[in-house]
Amino acid sequence: MARRKKIYEGKAKILYEGPEPGTIVQYFKDDATAFNAQKKATIEGKGVLNNRLSEFFMTGLNNIGVPTHFIRRLNMREQLCRSCEIIPLEIIVRNFAAGSLSKRLGVEEGAQLPRPIVEYCYKDDALGDPLVSEEHIAAFGWASQQDMDDIVHLALRVNDFLSGVMMAVGIKLVDFKIEIGRVYEGDFQRLVVADEISPDSCRLWDIETGAHLDKDVFRRDLGSLTDAYTEVARRLGVIPQTTGVSKPTLIN
Ligand code: TMP
Repeated sequence: MARRKKIYEGKAKILYEGPEPGTIVQYFKDDATAFNAQKKATIEGKGVLNNRLSEFFMTGLNNIGVPTHFIRRLNMREQLCRSCEIIPLEIIVRNFAAGSLSKRLGVEEGAQLPRPIVEYCYKDDALGDPLVSEEHIAAFGWASQQDMDDIVHLALRVNDFLSGVMMAVGIKLVDFKIEIGRVYEGDFQRLVVADEISPDSCRLWDIETGAHLDKDVFRRDLGSLTDAYTEVARRLGVIPQTTGVSKPTLIN
């Protein structure tokens, strides 16, 4: 079989040309980076877990009418997606203070915010993805006012969906990042949730213990990242419940 054409290689994923026009294949690597790739590691199994978890969240969003680029999972590490033009912004939604917001504003990590806060970072690794305002976005033409209205609406729907799904399995959705893509349909464009939704791009805290079940485990050296992501996948029923030592079972 002819090797597929690589379109782009990022820090955690590779994009290949898809089997049909207008599609791409998203391959999830085991690579983890933090602090703009100053810290790097290969974490066995991360790509497989994120492929499954992103499939789970994107399918749920599609099912409630929040459009995403996700079509279907192809195998352990790959998924078929609609190709789209990524808007060069990281859209961050925060429910509780943590990470860069806590640092920037001196708010204690874990403090509940009076309302969800939506922030934007300009996607540029060389600049370290700086925080930008809607003024910058409009002035530099990264997105129109109509796009911004749609983006906030999508981001808050994703927030409600993810918060609910997580709450049901004893996990608090502290914050997350999404990326938005433009899909062209004839003369029209539509915005869809693109990239991935996984514990790489969310902060997830166990409601009972406060344990971190997300990439902060790697960023802050808090233990095994695979164990944390496996726990999220297990609670969501994305991977079978682990029963420890598997015993042979009698089939009647
Ligand atoms: P922050 O507190 O470091 O700004 O991160 C906010 C959220 O965005 C958090 O859930 C982690 C996620 N995130 C990414 O997905 N990619 C990034 O490059 C960064 C810095 C954060």
